[in-house]
Amino acid sequence: MSCTPVKQEEANKDAPSGKKSERTLIVYLSRTNNTKAVAQIIQKNVGGTLVALELETPYPEHYQTTVNQVAEENRTGYLPPLKTKIDSIQKYDVVFVGFPTWGMQLPPPMKSFLKQYDLSGKKVIPFNTNGGYGIGSSFQTVKELCPNSEVLDGFTVKGGSERDGILFVMEGDKEVQVQAEVKKWLKKIGLTN
Ligand SMILES: Cc1cc2nc3c(=O)[nH]c(=O)nc-3n(C[C@H](O)[C@H](O)[C@H](O)COP(=O)(O)O)c2cc1C
Repeated sequence: MSCTPVKQEEANKDAPSGKKSERTLIVYLSRTNNTKAVAQIIQKNVGGTLVALELETPYPEHYQTTVNQVAEENRTGYLPPLKTKIDSIQKYDVVFVGFPTWGMQLPPPMKSFLKQYDLSGKKVIPFNTNGGYGIGSSFQTVKELCPNSEVLDGFTVKGGSERDGILFVMEGDKEVQVQAEVKKWLKKIGLTN
């Protein structure tokens, strides 16, 4: 038990620190950890606070049951209540929002987050992993849900494909490649030098 805090410190020791970093929030949704891996790469480069979105009622483990539930939530506009609470969202001026593509849309929990928290006046930066079919309407929905934010160009990369039994892929050569792509993107959008 006592090792946990030490590990956490180690994981963050390379992350940039300072004022800018303090004002950066990285919120992500991840079921099979691919989007989480991208979130961690972003944090290594820009620092900031990393927060996983968790639900009051988690999705089922069974893939197809989850697909069906998400389709129904999208159809009805249901916003699943979040267990995760962000304290003082006002203190952040850069908010990265990361999510997988689900049913070619923004996953309902990220819709819940963007509806619940007012990101007006902040930079909002989407990032995504998907099973090979791209971002769908997800980045557009982020823009629609953040009408008073500056939404920067997002990052997307192919992740797993749970449907085909491919879960976590962000390791080995793939991880090295994604690290390079993320660095290039962060530079392009002006978040790093
Ligand atoms: C409920 C559900 C729906 C999905 N729908 C899509 C989809 O529409 N298009 C796609 O390319 N991948 C889809 N995927 C695959 C995920 O986007 C992909 O595996 C992603 O890398 C998972 O990210 P994670 O590991 O952070 O959870 C879906 C996965 C799940 C669980």
